Amino acid sequence: MDSLLIRNIQFLIQVREPGLSKIPGSSLSYLPTIENAFLLIEDGKISDYGAMEHAPESADQVIDATGSAVMPTFCDPHTHLVFAESREKEFVDRIKGLSYSEIAKKGGGILNSAKRLNQVPEDVLYTQAQARLEEVMRMGTGAIEIKSGYGLTVEGELKMLRVIKRLKAHAQIPVKANFLGAHAIPLEYKDDREGYIKLITEEMLPKIGESGLADYIDVFCDVGFFTPEETGVLLRAGQKYGLKPKIHANELAFSGGVQIGVAHQAVSVDHLECVGEEEIEVLKNSETIPTLLPSTAFFLGIPVPPARKMIDADLPVALASDYNPGSSPSGSMPFILSLACITLKMLPAEAINAATLNAAAALELIDSHGSITKGKTGSVIITKPIPSIAYLPYRFGSNWISSVIIGGKVFDRHQATSPGKHKNQGGLP
Ligand code: NIG
Ligand code: FE
Repeated sequence: MDSLLIRNIQFLIQVREPGLSKIPGSSLSYLPTIENAFLLIEDGKISDYGAMEHAPESADQVIDATGSAVMPTFCDPHTHLVFAESREKEFVDRIKGLSYSEIAKKGGGILNSAKRLNQVPEDVLYTQAQARLEEVMRMGTGAIEIKSGYGLTVEGELKMLRVIKRLKAHAQIPVKANFLGAHAIPLEYKDDREGYIKLITEEMLPKIGESGLADYIDVFCDVGFFTPEETGVLLRAGQKYGLKPKIHANELAFSGGVQIGVAHQAVSVDHLECVGEEEIEVLKNSETIPTLLPSTAFFLGIPVPPARKMIDADLPVALASDYNPGSSPSGSMPFILSLACITLKMLPAEAINAATLNAAAALELIDSHGSITKGKTGSVIITKPIPSIAYLPYRFGSNWISSVIIGGKVFDRHQATSPGKHKNQGGLP
């Protein structure tokens, strides 16, 4: 038996009994925490936790966490981290006054990424994506969704999904693949939208379905991209191959994306900058999770989603990074926590719940991730010494992570914690 004991934890955050599902808005501000605690991980799984006086004497490895918090690793249920090239030129164009939609119309944006992706060899894409995955794991991400959508050709989309499959096979964390062939209409199909939709439904989907390359289907349902009617056609086609919808909705306009997603039992509808009473009402009567991506609105300078209204309507809000080269070139979940508090006016406890448990639900991984629960995967973040839990989102942009533990093994150590007095001390260097 391989065991890791974390002792003297000032705050053991997000401690839950087994069997919990996603947390509704009204319960998001409750973050169950044990002070002066221990956590035991055996054979990669959480096996025990509690007050320090009940801590076991020893373990194969012991970490002293005096002054620190321990929390479950983040789940990031919406990323596009396979891409061929960064897009800082568009960033500068936006600073000079062009909008995201204007850049997209000029053949920049997603089409620009697609052009490059189709030129770059699969191995190069894999190496780059793997480095990005490790980067976000060092920032505390312990489960992730990754989308295709920068291929927009049969071969390009399959290439992206094969890269994601390789990441799945080699990563130490769970990776879910989302097929986003309907990310934009390629230039060659500018005057034949139906032709591109057919390419997706008749050529891409059968190949993806046969090879089991995707878990979900996504559509960018928004003005200038795909209409709700087209989205419905695409989602139904995906469902024939067992792909559940997790879609982009209502980022740029009141696009009808929320309604069409819910009508197709989407696991989540993501973005939601443009949401009003009607969309909230539709979400209330569904199991669909509203996933908010505050770094996108921050980076693009667009209005933020009405998070408080959604929480007040008791919706199980989740958070994600949207890591991609165009609208969120960062996969930092600690920064997402800060933005959720600063720009969406979420309380620190609400943001942490949304980025752990509800984000796990948006990945359909709530049975193994998202909380400190016996039997769940032993993936946790040990913070540097902190005065309180609210200090974490408050310290935006600073690195408050001391180490990241993935499945009971130290994945990354950032700095030494205080030396302990215990024999077998595996304390940080
Ligand atoms: O989630 N909204 C659609 N897709 C991405 C942006 C992709 C890009 O600009 O490359 C997003 O924001
Ligand atoms: Fe996205």
